[in-house]
Amino acid sequence: MTEAALQMGKRRHVLDLDDFVPEEFEEVFAQADAMAEVLARPIAQVPALRGVTVVNAFYEASTRTRISFEQAAKALSATVVNFTAQSSSVVKGESLVDTVRTLEALGADVVVLRHAMSGAPYLVARHFSGAVLNAGDGRHAHPTQGLLDIYTMRRHLGEIRGIRVVIVGDILHSRVARSNLWGLTKLGAQVVLCGPPTLVGPASYWEAVFPNVRVCYALEEAIAGADVVMALRLQKERQESGLLPTLREYIRLYCLTPERLALAAPHALVMHPGPMNEGVEISPEVATCAQSVIEEQVTNGVAIRMALLYMLAGRKAEA
Ligand code: CP
Repeated sequence: MTEAALQMGKRRHVLDLDDFVPEEFEEVFAQADAMAEVLARPIAQVPALRGVTVVNAFYEASTRTRISFEQAAKALSATVVNFTAQSSSVVKGESLVDTVRTLEALGADVVVLRHAMSGAPYLVARHFSGAVLNAGDGRHAHPTQGLLDIYTMRRHLGEIRGIRVVIVGDILHSRVARSNLWGLTKLGAQVVLCGPPTLVGPASYWEAVFPNVRVCYALEEAIAGADVVMALRLQKERQESGLLPTLREYIRLYCLTPERLALAAPHALVMHPGPMNEGVEISPEVATCAQSVIEEQVTNGVAIRMALLYMLAGRKAEA
């Protein structure tokens, strides 16, 4: 067993990337490479998790994360139970902790949780004896998205150390940006955060926590020579809450257009975690251009989630 395997072997949950060590990223990526080979087979299913029950508990809307976790669990032959808050006793007032105890009593081995409240997966992890995977909590973290994003960069660019990644948009409210920041900076990338000051915040806020992070409010300056440009979804409620003067001004200053992308390195990747507002944070031409790996991010999400399910299923709290 390698040092990396020993590191990942100590873990029961993936709640964020802030507690990952660099070796764990490598172990997850190597496992995801193996899972991508499984997915490329004519019959893309292996019996690795037969007898394991994975519950996808989604308290918030999702397309990519929910479906890819389901595909990942099924490709490993796990039993998959899909739980949505709207169709459960949550609507009768059942608490999150009660729900988790019920899932445990019904034999769940892994809980995949998406929740609007930051920190909800940590609460679940305290009350559940199996493994918990955070599928996005509030504004806090989206670790499997961070892993699939970095995995996609690594497949195209090789080394993460030394690359320059520009993240553009609503950084302050983005769990995707936070998890990417933890992962990318731990692996030695330089990250530039770009957007209006009301959606990025002061440079000192980010620089106090993350090494190798710079804030730049002008997209043309931020993007010059970048290896990766990641646009984030602009949530419409930001304008209603007064954080933007007008949508038109946001588009004028921050929409990722072909002209702006031309300022990045010629090999630069275009990324977006989805769902996209085409014509707002990214132009339709850029979203579908040859440099765009947006659909590949979605595909890679299945291999990354298979890797995590495979590595964590069966982990139990010590009695
Ligand atoms: N990237 C992401 O989390 O997308 P969904 O909300 O569709 O899962």
